[in-house]
Amino acid sequence: MKIQYLGHAAFLITINGTNLLVDPFISGGPHKNKIDINNIEVDYILLTHGHGDHVADTEDIAKRTGATLVSNFEIVNWYEQKGIKGHAMNHGGKFEFDFGTIKYVYATHSSSLPDGTYAGNPGGFVIWTEKECLYIAGDTGLTMDMKLIPLLCPPLNLAILPIGDNYTMGYEEAIIASDFVDCKQIIACHYDTMPIIKVDQNLVITKFREIGKEIHFLEIGRIKEY
Ligand code: NI
Ligand code: MN
Repeated sequence: MKIQYLGHAAFLITINGTNLLVDPFISGGPHKNKIDINNIEVDYILLTHGHGDHVADTEDIAKRTGATLVSNFEIVNWYEQKGIKGHAMNHGGKFEFDFGTIKYVYATHSSSLPDGTYAGNPGGFVIWTEKECLYIAGDTGLTMDMKLIPLLCPPLNLAILPIGDNYTMGYEEAIIASDFVDCKQIIACHYDTMPIIKVDQNLVITKFREIGKEIHFLEIGRIKEY
């Protein structure tokens, strides 16, 4: 799979030739000059929850590309009223899409849409094919439910975890989360976008290395193959 970091918690993931855009918050963010949302080709848009720093560019990109939105029932419903097609899921459910399987899993956070509409319960995604398995935690604190993931899904190759603290777990808990989900390769997100979630990247890298794991801080815009 190929992964391109688009800043904050946004990623463009290519699996089996299908482009999945996760939590697009680009044009209104501090990294807006590095990525042009008009150049992103997308088949599916995955939203973990309704907060603006995860959904901001969804409408523009979905309308231009005709991408299918995948999220919980409430979020898909809200976007369907704007003319965007969606595939609604809810916690514990999985579905086999044309490129692979997505399971919508628990996250402990809050969730409302930019106009204040209730956005259901926040979640994360586990995405797998015959060859690979990726966990996208979404905005979440550390939760015991993460221990269910290795029981219910194929072994993880990669986990995208928030580490910026304050709004989500910090890196110390992300280390425990990586044990709970049984994954050695971590990609960091939800850090450094604003001063309140600034992290010391070298310290975080060292702390993961001490327990035999690797955390990646991806350069915005660069495509990496995993
Ligand atoms: Ni949030
Ligand atoms: Mn957030």
